[in-house]
Amino acid sequence: MMFKDSAELVFKEKIPKGRAAWRSPSNIALVKYWGKHGVQLPRNPSVSFTLSESYSETSIAYRPRSADDKDSFAFLFDAKEEPAFADRIGKYLQEVTSIFPFIDQLHLDIRSRNSFPHSSGIASSASAFSALALCLCSIEYQCFGTLEEDTAYRKKASYVARLGSGSASRSIFDTAALWGQHGEESASSDEFAIGVKDRIHEVFHSYGNAILLVDSGSKSVSSSAGHRLMEDHVYAQVRYAEARKNLLQLMQALQQGDTERVGSLIEVEAMQLHAMMMASRPYVILLAPNTLKIIQLIQEFRRSTHLPVFFTIDAGPNIHLLYPQEHRSDVLAFIEDVLGQYCLRGSWIDDRVGNGPIQID
Ligand code: PMV
Repeated sequence: MMFKDSAELVFKEKIPKGRAAWRSPSNIALVKYWGKHGVQLPRNPSVSFTLSESYSETSIAYRPRSADDKDSFAFLFDAKEEPAFADRIGKYLQEVTSIFPFIDQLHLDIRSRNSFPHSSGIASSASAFSALALCLCSIEYQCFGTLEEDTAYRKKASYVARLGSGSASRSIFDTAALWGQHGEESASSDEFAIGVKDRIHEVFHSYGNAILLVDSGSKSVSSSAGHRLMEDHVYAQVRYAEARKNLLQLMQALQQGDTERVGSLIEVEAMQLHAMMMASRPYVILLAPNTLKIIQLIQEFRRSTHLPVFFTIDAGPNIHLLYPQEHRSDVLAFIEDVLGQYCLRGSWIDDRVGNGPIQID
């Protein structure tokens, strides 16, 4: 059995009260996860950098549930009610009750906030579900003394986060994570991510990641609908094979500190993700005109400066500009002088690779 028998995780005597709180970052996929099956299992393995400045903070205050409780939980986002988020969390809590049966005996008061604007077009599901999963594991630890060992704790948190959002499984780890089974990666699994910081050259441990906000509009396709488009996609098998190949090459380049090679692989991955969307039935275009303009400008910047500054893109129009810290001043000047005018009201987030989640008061 992967985790402690869940039948043992119920209160047999007095039901306690307490509180758990975590700050958990978003992450940016370098090799993209696109296509899933079963219960949130990936069709191909992925690798990501953990971010630093884009995070969610979530707290759960728990107490015995009483007959007077109309609901099993309360949820506030930014101190306000958000029925759509509360709905998703309600469904998620029901799903994870088989893993944490004690949830049924508790009332949970959940509060959450993001460090980045909710409407900025940044996917918040990775930070939100990883923070929530970490809180649930903390409650298990506080009440049952389980998960004492850090590796076991993170493995379970990653597994539980995955059930909320696949990419959330990767946010649990310092610097970089790999999620999804790969024959050449012995510890890899479809069920949880693993931390790979110790296999990554130091130059990437503090890598810069400027998030250029091109458009904040709500996505025309949800990520679940996007994954579904891969189900009968004519290029699906080719894409999954490409992702496996790219992952091996990327892990090698990350280890060697080869910023050029890493850069060219992550750009190919971003373009393949969007090529899949554009070749789906129905097709989806998530890139905005200014996304393409910024891509062209990055290519020109690279040609003229020979600096290893590359981009990746998630399932949306925003650009993540990745760069070594030693070139930070050149990159900031490039954003201020050239790229900023193509961002929504000039806005961008000065993020970097970070150390993963932390427990907070
Ligand atoms: O975790 P989801 O279901 O929101 O899917 C994430 C998909 C991408 O962000 C496009 C790629 C990835 O690996 O994060």
